[in-house]
Amino acid sequence: MFEIKSKDGLGRTGILKTGHGTVRTPALMPVIHPGKQTIDVKGPGAEIVITNAYIIYRNPELREKALSDGVHRLIDFDGPIMTDSGSFQLSEYGDIEVENPEIIRFQDEIGTDIGTSLDIPTPPGVSHRRALEEVEVTLERARESIEYRERMMLNAVVQGSTHPDLRRYCASRLAELPVELHPIGAVVPLMESYRYRELVDAVLSSVSELPPSRPRHLMGAGHPMLFALAVSMGCDLFDSAAYILYAEDDRLLSTEGTYKLENLQEMPCSCSVCTDYTPSELMGMDREERRNLIAEHNLHVSFAEIRKVRQAIHDGNLMELVEERCRAHPRLLEGYRRMSEYLDLIEKFEPRSKRSAFFYTGPESLGRVEVHRHLKRVKEHLGERLALVAPSRRPYSSSLPARIGGFSSLRPQSGGPWRVVVVDLPFGIIPLELDQVYPLAQSDAPGIMDLDGEEFLRGLVRDLMDGDAIVDDALCSELGIELPYKYMGEVETTVDDLDRVRMVADYQFGMGAGELLFTDDVRIERSRNTGKIRHIYAGDELICTMRASDGLLVLGAEGAVRLHQGTDYPACRVAVNEESEPFARKGKSVFAKFIIDCDNNIRANDEVLIVNADDELLATGKALLCAEEMMDLNHGQAVKTRKGGF
Ligand code: GUN
Repeated sequence: MFEIKSKDGLGRTGILKTGHGTVRTPALMPVIHPGKQTIDVKGPGAEIVITNAYIIYRNPELREKALSDGVHRLIDFDGPIMTDSGSFQLSEYGDIEVENPEIIRFQDEIGTDIGTSLDIPTPPGVSHRRALEEVEVTLERARESIEYRERMMLNAVVQGSTHPDLRRYCASRLAELPVELHPIGAVVPLMESYRYRELVDAVLSSVSELPPSRPRHLMGAGHPMLFALAVSMGCDLFDSAAYILYAEDDRLLSTEGTYKLENLQEMPCSCSVCTDYTPSELMGMDREERRNLIAEHNLHVSFAEIRKVRQAIHDGNLMELVEERCRAHPRLLEGYRRMSEYLDLIEKFEPRSKRSAFFYTGPESLGRVEVHRHLKRVKEHLGERLALVAPSRRPYSSSLPARIGGFSSLRPQSGGPWRVVVVDLPFGIIPLELDQVYPLAQSDAPGIMDLDGEEFLRGLVRDLMDGDAIVDDALCSELGIELPYKYMGEVETTVDDLDRVRMVADYQFGMGAGELLFTDDVRIERSRNTGKIRHIYAGDELICTMRASDGLLVLGAEGAVRLHQGTDYPACRVAVNEESEPFARKGKSVFAKFIIDCDNNIRANDEVLIVNADDELLATGKALLCAEEMMDLNHGQAVKTRKGGF
């Protein structure tokens, strides 16, 4: 039912297939009031809508029409429809007059595409005991719903109030059930009171246990200010009554917040409402006309933001968008900062190479997973005797003089060659051998550092000084470091080609891959245009190509054989079943449903070996998904095969 098309961290664009057509995700589902709707939502961009089955069920006229003509005719929408169950009314009024099996059966009978069980929306801040009791009821009803649904897809809602352990518990139990989607519920009170830090905890603790193959819906989230952040936490669907509720109150939505019409001198965007009318013209209209126009504006900005988020995922700069959006409100920034508590979770889904450069937009950028991942990995590769130098222009290795002097140290130093390491924002530690590799080369930060950036670099230098290290005087003065000893000597900054390709291979495929792939007899060829390393051969056999866009290695046939022979299963491998084997050998892409096993360490855009159940090499390819997604998804491509024929 759900296919992932592109990825950026936990964010993904995808395709959700329903009986009434396909929906591109992330998607916004406008809330349609059955019987009252006067506003067109399809024109502004709705591919799917949500309506309330309980309201239909309770109104004899609506109910009869829905049962005879179907919900699509009732609300006059021929695309996919999701229905909610009445749980919202339960949270508002404390009681409702329908049981779970009845409302499930009803949703199925009126032909909804996606129905919802009668979960208990436990509010924030209640006792653990109450939240647990209500989670148990929610779980029981989700299980029961499976028996009563026939045709429709089913939403199983994650509850658990503001107790992250209960969110995880609820999500992990729901993950075991044969349902199609997972809303994350009872978050409206958190969003209404700007409690975004707790929202981040509720969402990420839920997402950590939900299968990546099922879309997640942030229930009641309809403010465009929040979409980028929510998508970066793995949410795929939003529903909005905000467009009309805000309009009824003369409030205009924007990605920077909300404007009250009476305070506006200028209209805030370039939609047709904002270009056709002035604030005073709108103020002078009758209530209903004004409400409809503001609702049209609200839908326009909401769908524009959804499109922008989808484009950002495709381009690989979702986090830059999140960082921009979170500057709109201090509580949003707090929520974003909270995400750095979940780096291990996010890392599992973060592609290892992207189309876009990493931009440092402020100190929060240092909390991003790319920085965390790089520092963890690079420390394995550094070794001893480091010469830490201040950055020059990029690429560092070709802009530094061949030899530099003027170093200080913590203790007297003598003997042996030094490994030159540039210390710079945003990635901190850049061995010269890696200075063309993603994301180190494809990144930028302001040349004038902020205090957090300085402190970050000072901390890294201090750590490295625990080993054998000397520090360039320019770097000492930039970071305000004073060291007692002067190192008398110079440091070579030229990087040997073989050292470079070996270190890139270690960094990319794991320690030891460099020597395995590139024996002393390899031939390294440079591009005639750029002078950069391009191809590495053993005799006439291609081992690897160094890709110009991200400086990473693409395996040639000889490289694939060497990596396969020299590493143990399942390192760098995706194993496919018998059915898929002949296709992979022919160079056809691998679909997720044929994958039987893979290396847990695989991330999207990694170069991988495609093997069969007996670990025979079939092909090489580029992963489109991470390991967890490969094992869980049943639709869509998982590996783009580069070369079969082994
Ligand atoms: N709409 C907003 N929040 C909720 C929730 O927690 N559950 C359901 N079913 N609908 C909602």
